[in-house]
Amino acid sequence: MPLSPALNYPTVPLSNGLQIPVLGLGTSHDGGYSHDSIMYALTECGMRHIDTAKRYGCEEKLGRAIRESGLPRSDLWLTNKLWPGDYGYKSAKNACLGSCSQMGVDYFDLYLMHWPESSRHGCSNREMRAETWRALEELYKEGVCRAIGVSNFLVHHLEQLKEDCSVVPHVNQVEYHPFQQPSHLIEYCRQEGIVFEGYSPLAKGQVLSNHTVLQIAEKYRRTPAQICIRWSSQNGVVTIPKSTKKERIKENCQLEEADMNTLGMLHDGRHVSWDPTNVE
Ligand SMILES: NC(=O)c1ccc[n+]([C@@H]2O[C@H](COP(=O)([O-])OP(=O)(O)OC[C@H]3O[C@@H](n4cnc5c(N)ncnc54)[C@H](OP(=O)(O)O)[C@@H]3O)[C@@H](O)[C@H]2O)c1
Repeated sequence: MPLSPALNYPTVPLSNGLQIPVLGLGTSHDGGYSHDSIMYALTECGMRHIDTAKRYGCEEKLGRAIRESGLPRSDLWLTNKLWPGDYGYKSAKNACLGSCSQMGVDYFDLYLMHWPESSRHGCSNREMRAETWRALEELYKEGVCRAIGVSNFLVHHLEQLKEDCSVVPHVNQVEYHPFQQPSHLIEYCRQEGIVFEGYSPLAKGQVLSNHTVLQIAEKYRRTPAQICIRWSSQNGVVTIPKSTKKERIKENCQLEEADMNTLGMLHDGRHVSWDPTNVE
């Protein structure tokens, strides 16, 4: 099957009118960084959406890959994230500008607060989230970030932010795969006009040996990873699988039809990444 041409990947509209490509490339530190795979994704597979974070430690390398790809900055969707160690008004602004300079770009398409908990003593998480969000609101108004959002925020975190601040987050990036389907949070985000973005769509590989997933993959003659990625995107969830291997990057770009309802039954509530449930 031919790969979809870059700009034909479907997009999801944000509340401010921007269109985020439904499929992006994960780049977290788990499993390491592969320059060849990123280059392959950008130049051979038409991928235009990269998800990274200061925490992943690869901003400089990604910046180099983007320049080597020769792609115009305006063709790319770059998401970066602010680590809790940089929370606070001034630190947040400095960290965002620092990340831009590490990657050699003037702006991010999306900038997220990575986690709802603050690491600073003497200030509640709620106060610190609000102070930090005000910095992101300014970065948004200044055009350094074309959209701003949060990650790992639950309904109560979002409700507090709504009371304390003025811009509603454009995106909430949360763990999402067949074993982790936070339907209440997804519904809340839809009602509030917040795009729900799912991370770890393959449950870091755990879902790929699940019996139901294997059966559906066999039925549709697709791989288990393709079934899971297609399931996310077909549910309107922006999805960002990560691989350090070219052949898997190619496989993960091929979005196909599958038996989505059956996968919807697999939720067992497990988290394979961190769990924000107990963050006040
Ligand atoms: N906001 C947050 O707090 C947060 C948390 C976690 C992740 N994320 C983001 O979400 C991205 C994706 O999540 P993730 O990296 O945790 O997990 P994931 O994408 O669910 O799974 C990645 C794992 O699956 C393997 N894999 C990838 N494609 C495969 C395929 N086609 N067949 C078999 N195995 C395959 C990879 O190994 P190989 O490299 O060996 O192929 C890797 O071990 C991250 O990279 C990051 O950008 C955000």
